[in-house]
Amino acid sequence: MGDEVLANLMQQSQVFPPDEAFVAQANATADLYGEAEADREAFWEKQAERLHWETRWNQVLDWSNAPFAKWFVGGRLNVAYNCVDRHVENGYGDQVAIHWVGEPGDTRDITYAQLKDEVCKAANALSSLGLKPGDRVAIQMPMIPEAIVSMLACARLGLVHSVVFGGFSPSALRSRVEDADAKVVITTDGQYRRGKALPMKANVDEGIEGIDAVQNVIVVRRTGMDVPWTEGRDLWWHDLVDSQSAEHTPEAFDSEHPLFILYTSGTTGKPKGILHTTGGYLTQAAYTHHVVFDHKPGKDVYWCTADIGWITGHSYIVYGPLANRATQVVYEGTPNTPHEGRHWEIVQEYKVTIYYTAPTLIRTFMKWGEEIPARYDLSSLRLLGSVGEPINPEAWLWYRKHIGGDKTPIVDTWWQTETGAIMISPLPGALSLKPGSALRALPGVSAKVVDEKGNEVSHGSGGYLVLDKPWPSMLRGIWGDEKRYRETYWARFADKGFYFAGDGAKYDDDGDIWLLGRVDDVMNVSGHRISTTEVESALVAHPTVAEAAVVGASDPTTGQAIVAFVIPRAGVAQDEASGEDAIKTLREHVAKEIGPIAKPRQIIVVPELPKTRSGKIMRRLLRDVAENREIGDVTTLADSSVMDLIAKGLRSGK
Ligand code: PRX
Repeated sequence: MGDEVLANLMQQSQVFPPDEAFVAQANATADLYGEAEADREAFWEKQAERLHWETRWNQVLDWSNAPFAKWFVGGRLNVAYNCVDRHVENGYGDQVAIHWVGEPGDTRDITYAQLKDEVCKAANALSSLGLKPGDRVAIQMPMIPEAIVSMLACARLGLVHSVVFGGFSPSALRSRVEDADAKVVITTDGQYRRGKALPMKANVDEGIEGIDAVQNVIVVRRTGMDVPWTEGRDLWWHDLVDSQSAEHTPEAFDSEHPLFILYTSGTTGKPKGILHTTGGYLTQAAYTHHVVFDHKPGKDVYWCTADIGWITGHSYIVYGPLANRATQVVYEGTPNTPHEGRHWEIVQEYKVTIYYTAPTLIRTFMKWGEEIPARYDLSSLRLLGSVGEPINPEAWLWYRKHIGGDKTPIVDTWWQTETGAIMISPLPGALSLKPGSALRALPGVSAKVVDEKGNEVSHGSGGYLVLDKPWPSMLRGIWGDEKRYRETYWARFADKGFYFAGDGAKYDDDGDIWLLGRVDDVMNVSGHRISTTEVESALVAHPTVAEAAVVGASDPTTGQAIVAFVIPRAGVAQDEASGEDAIKTLREHVAKEIGPIAKPRQIIVVPELPKTRSGKIMRRLLRDVAENREIGDVTTLADSSVMDLIAKGLRSGK
């Protein structure tokens, strides 16, 4: 058999047509593509009707001030009312909204009626502190119900939340609180991580020390550990919130009222505060949750394993699912606490039907072994999702076979903090699936793969991924930095008016899209975005480091891993700098500066870094070293002997 024939056969065997039984009950049909194509604005208008609007919009899209979009212009709504109250008013108060599972094994089931009471009390509490619509509130919490309640209470009052991932360091919190000028921080005494109670409030104190704008810190008791306390500023949640009235009348806000800021890494050291607003964001979060996850309210038990510190937690734990009256599992802990079957135990216990996670975790499950999920009854699962990085076909096939019982569709969903909601994904039931491909833009969304000049590439070719038409949940800017917003996303293909996503992609012969990873200096480690410059800045802040260059090297489990090359300061001997202790200290230093997720896998001490004549570090060559490859073309280096020096150092074990 010729190679080509074999390749074709493989290609064919890799296609999974939709299952008839699934199609018969699917929320989405292939007709949606045509419907959206025929009249995009009418299509989105119909999606907006999923929500309750206090005042209807008078214009669907205003793109006259591009790249600043306005969607559902003139419309007014309250996000918390849409996510909670209206379900209670419609008679679903007794439906469980959240099956919460704590890491140590404690559980809470919260109905929509209870959630409404909690959100109203928290809203009354935040009002009592004098907060006004538009004020910013920072939230750094583990995955406990109060985190979700806090976000919804902010939304209810028109306060802009900025959730900071619980694993971020005090200095990462500080830069975010300062940038957004947050008046209140909500946190917990501590958080459980792998069976241990770790401090949280103490870290928050360190992060906000000396920031006068922070008027209050509200602390939820979670672990019961002792906490430092600032009288007059700090308030216990149970003192402040529990005694409040459970009555609160929601106010409708403008469709373009800011809903939240979420910081994400860019190509410079300073994280970008991505701004999302109200009506368009909630519309697309709800629509995508409905069609991509095929979600049926009152029937499905949905579980998204993300943390609320990331956009996936915002759109697919809080806003999308709650707007759609989901019953969902929220789990506080790590997947191997207290054992490696924890997720499957939870799926079995709650009869989870829809499960959404990241490829890095799927690859970890593969490493732990298929016998672990095999011990549990996973037959309730009917749809699986993937997000955060390209999913390799091996992981896709394993996921379907060992978690999905060889029958569930898998939706590989491509999107970003900036896009707010899913953009490219199979519509389950409507399309045949290809392991490793996100297939095509959702109805209502438009994406293209283009070359350097912005011309669409032909089928079978690769290039840059762009979004060529505005979409409702698109970011409305970078908080306080209009110039950076224009430059980062809109400058590269300015003449075409395309949004540049920062990802490489290719079309296959059928025109389906395969995502290939970032094309800029942003790494993707376990689905987390980390900028190379951010890690470099942390490294050079250490007294022993003169210069640093960081690259993302491919890693079988985490997708990419951080590999750092450092030049020691004068006076620090090369031997000493490359010693085990010195390397350990540097790794810990980065973890402390940014957070444990940014800890380099490997630090290599070098005498020089490869630079072009204009002084730009050639990361491509360092990536060759980090991935043990033959070193590529060095002719553009200012000094081509540098790579020999680095290679020699590596060989001698330095
Ligand atoms: O490179 C893409 C990758 O994650 C980036 C966005 O990261 P973040 O804003 O943190 O949001 C992650 C969760 C939505 C993208 O630029 N990415 C996300 N999903 C996929 C993906 N890469 C390939 N396939 C995906 N399904």
